[in-house]
Amino acid sequence: MSFIQVYNLAYKDVFNVSFINVFNPVIQNCFRAFSTAFVLVRGKNTLNIICVTYLNSIQFHSNNGQERGVFMFLQSSAVKSTDTIRTLYFDDSILARFFGQSSTHNDIPGELYSKYNVKKGLRNEDGTGVLVGLTKVSDVVGYVKDKEGKVTPCDGDLLYRGYSIHDLIRNRRDNYGFEETCFLLLFGFLPNKNQLANFKGCLADRYSLPDNFMINEILGSPSLNLMNRLQALTLQLYNYDDDPDNTDVYETLRKGLNLIAKLPVLACYAYQSKLHKVYHDSLIIHYPRQDYSIAENILLMLRPDGQFTKKEANLLDALLVIHADHGGGNNSTFTDVVVGSTGTDLYSAICASLGALKGPRHGGANISVSRMMDEVKAVTGMNCDKAKIKKVILDILDGKLYDHSGLLYGFGHAVYTLSDPRAEILRELCRNLAQEKGMLSTFNFYKMFEDTAHEVLMEKKKKPLPTNVDFYSGLAYSMLGIPDELYTPLFAIARVSGWVSHNMENKMYDGRIMRPATKYVGEMHDFVDMDSRS
Ligand SMILES: CC(C)(COP(=O)(O)OP(=O)(O)OC[C@H]1O[C@@H](n2cnc3c(N)ncnc32)[C@H](O)[C@@H]1OP(=O)(O)O)[C@@H](O)C(=O)NCCC(=O)NCCS
Repeated sequence: MSFIQVYNLAYKDVFNVSFINVFNPVIQNCFRAFSTAFVLVRGKNTLNIICVTYLNSIQFHSNNGQERGVFMFLQSSAVKSTDTIRTLYFDDSILARFFGQSSTHNDIPGELYSKYNVKKGLRNEDGTGVLVGLTKVSDVVGYVKDKEGKVTPCDGDLLYRGYSIHDLIRNRRDNYGFEETCFLLLFGFLPNKNQLANFKGCLADRYSLPDNFMINEILGSPSLNLMNRLQALTLQLYNYDDDPDNTDVYETLRKGLNLIAKLPVLACYAYQSKLHKVYHDSLIIHYPRQDYSIAENILLMLRPDGQFTKKEANLLDALLVIHADHGGGNNSTFTDVVVGSTGTDLYSAICASLGALKGPRHGGANISVSRMMDEVKAVTGMNCDKAKIKKVILDILDGKLYDHSGLLYGFGHAVYTLSDPRAEILRELCRNLAQEKGMLSTFNFYKMFEDTAHEVLMEKKKKPLPTNVDFYSGLAYSMLGIPDELYTPLFAIARVSGWVSHNMENKMYDGRIMRPATKYVGEMHDFVDMDSRS
């Protein structure tokens, strides 16, 4: 049987595809034009997907109808192994040779890092972060450090302007918690009723997109990855601003508010246009309502019938609140401050932060949790048998299951030690919505998995690794019927409020260009004339 290797753009994953039938008439009918082959795919995280070739890409639907995407062909020949997969260009062997040669010039021995006291990942030896700034916007409490610098683990808390996230979540009114949080992060104090009403009006006034933006920028060029699309659309907004390079702090606030109001619309429409252009679904565009909160508008814009319950909107509002900020040291916020410190425009800084957030070690981890749990559910049949779950967890940690990284996604955190307050909050909110939706068996399975994971991680890693925000956020989004490709964009919709707040704060109170140092540890050479080189 011959194979083709394909690279799945949506999942960033490689699949081995075997041809079982060419010119299948049924599939050709399904996809109308260009259908030329009917193939069966066995992937790492999807089984038995039926595909149709589509010029140099193929569209697929899984046989349970729940998965779909587009593959790009990389190589179309008989192959024996799928271990090493890469895009093949004519000049690939030439480049590969240069790359091999370069290894002797690039090698940096590990011991040099400790010799020169380099803080890898900007972390101190005890795992805490290197201090790179001061902030009054928010604080992440994950441990207690005494006067001697000894770190003691503790239950985590997240403070926005000194208010605990637990209090902010508990005291929300009418699904406008996110709007209240934005106000708090941007201005530093909790709004009274009147102030919040005015602020909600300011946001609602900015929901609508500039003339022709929808046709020219959104519908005109859909993308497979919604985070990349959000970056492109954010940069496009620069062109619709009559004073885009103005980095005055008050101007930054005005531009930032515009982005906070528009990002939900951009993400939802980018998703709808992808469904339409890539998957040939009907195009559904609901305009945001001025009398809806951002959480309610997201559900309105995503759902074909625009309907949702109060509890659903409440859960999404909570998700936005808990993702809004996370101190100045989280990667995308630090990126925003680093890029902003050059004096560049806000659109460029936010675009850089979006790129940082996309990464699987940062905002993209929520997708990894979701796909890992899909595989866990498939292997265990969602059976709460503890021994079975333990075996699956051990297999993941041993690199035998899921993405073979040995990481159990949704556990562990760079700052939190005993618990992540966001996970604690989400667990209860998920339990609540699961009850309403008759999904308690799913929730109980997650809870059993979580408890067993703690036991296994303690045995293997000899220290507690807390459940992090991403473990329950995926379950929450899936209970809201939100597809996993929107998980990270939803994170961005919330976090842009933190990015803008830190950007303004840094402009006001630091203001210097971020410019750390690196030590040159290479050799010195006398220049060699080209004719004399070997
Ligand atoms: C979040 C994360 C990157 C923090 O990394 P970190 O600051 O290096 O974490 P720690 O210092 O506590 O790690 C201690 C050890 O436990 C391991 N570890 C941490 N989290 C782990 C996990 N979820 N699964 C398996 N091993 C893990 C680390 O690899 C390290 O092992 P080592 O000492 O043998 O190298 C890490 O926990 C992780 O990768 N988690 C999974 C991805 C995830 O859920 N990310 C979302 C974060 S909100």
